[in-house]
Amino acid sequence: HELALSLEEIEKGGYDHFMLKEIFEQPKALSDCLRGRINAEEGTVTLGGIEGIMDQLVNARRIIIAACGTSWHSGLVGEYLFEYLAKVPVEVEYASEFRYKEQLIGEGDVMIVISQSGETADTLAALREAKSRGALVLGVVNVVGSTIARETDAGVYIHAGPEIGVASTKAFTAQVTVLTMMAIKLGLYKKTIDNKEAKKLIGELAQIPAKIEEILESTDEIKEISNLFSYAPNFLYLGRSYSFPVALEGALKLKEISYIHAEGYPAAEMKHGPIALIDEMMPVVVIAATQHTNDKMISNIEEVRARKGRIIAITNPGNEEVEDLAEFKSIVPETMDVLSPLLTVIPLQLLSYYIAVNRGCNVDQPRNLAKSVTVE
Ligand code: G6P
Repeated sequence: HELALSLEEIEKGGYDHFMLKEIFEQPKALSDCLRGRINAEEGTVTLGGIEGIMDQLVNARRIIIAACGTSWHSGLVGEYLFEYLAKVPVEVEYASEFRYKEQLIGEGDVMIVISQSGETADTLAALREAKSRGALVLGVVNVVGSTIARETDAGVYIHAGPEIGVASTKAFTAQVTVLTMMAIKLGLYKKTIDNKEAKKLIGELAQIPAKIEEILESTDEIKEISNLFSYAPNFLYLGRSYSFPVALEGALKLKEISYIHAEGYPAAEMKHGPIALIDEMMPVVVIAATQHTNDKMISNIEEVRARKGRIIAITNPGNEEVEDLAEFKSIVPETMDVLSPLLTVIPLQLLSYYIAVNRGCNVDQPRNLAKSVTVE
């Protein structure tokens, strides 16, 4: 038993928990995920697993993304990416809902299933259903040779390395990285983006690992915020556009490992309900790091402030208006709006981690949760 314990210590590589190790592994995981696949000088993306089906993907009527949990959130980011870069309509389904809905999927449709483990029962069932009706099914999977990886028609591995912590971190960012590469590639095929735009996107994507490293180098602000709000009973997370799925993911992370009730919401939709919850006790995390929604986010922040909510802003350097309005802030480096989830999610992972540790929670194995849900 002692030997087993020390093996675990070795596996944690000096970190207190697997989750923390995996958060800090993200620069490397994403470098591995990008390696040999992108060329910024040429403006090209090479994804061995889907080169052979690109014609079918180009002709897809629509893309349906099916997944569960955190993988569903990366699917939501994927929706914005594919629609913006490749102008193809995308629907994102909870795999568990898709499988019991009227099955309107068929030939000409492409389903992308996203799964870290490659074993989630509902995701597997959705893929089988789609496949049996003639859709092309692609996988975005971490575990090589897993059931979902084997049963999909084609796919792209995320190459994030083993993820042990129940709360998914590096798999999320690696999934989003793969979806970004797929969307750029499809956009190039469909000519919805040109070579110049592709070069810019790919060049920026290549810089993401170093920018994550930068975030991870200075965690003091997030630790301080975590210390202040560790005993809050509720949290609200708000974001628009690319930051909306990040709000959902931030809230999920907090629920999963610290057992604090948290809700993620599209910032403007807040007016239709959650605003009633805001008072001087309510921490509100606002993700304000995309230029095209900045003005709108500022007015949402003002709405929260008017009700005395405690604003924690995730924003970019030099966004003075947001900084002035926020009580607390965590700064992430600037990038293109489309790539922002890869950076804005990092402080939210850290926030949930430090809060869970402060509360004495079992970070790597939260109560009632399993790393992979192989039953319906
Ligand atoms: C479980 C895990 C989550 C994960 C979800 C989907 O709920 O606790 O972290 O996001 O399953 O898992 P998958 O392996 O399909 O990505």
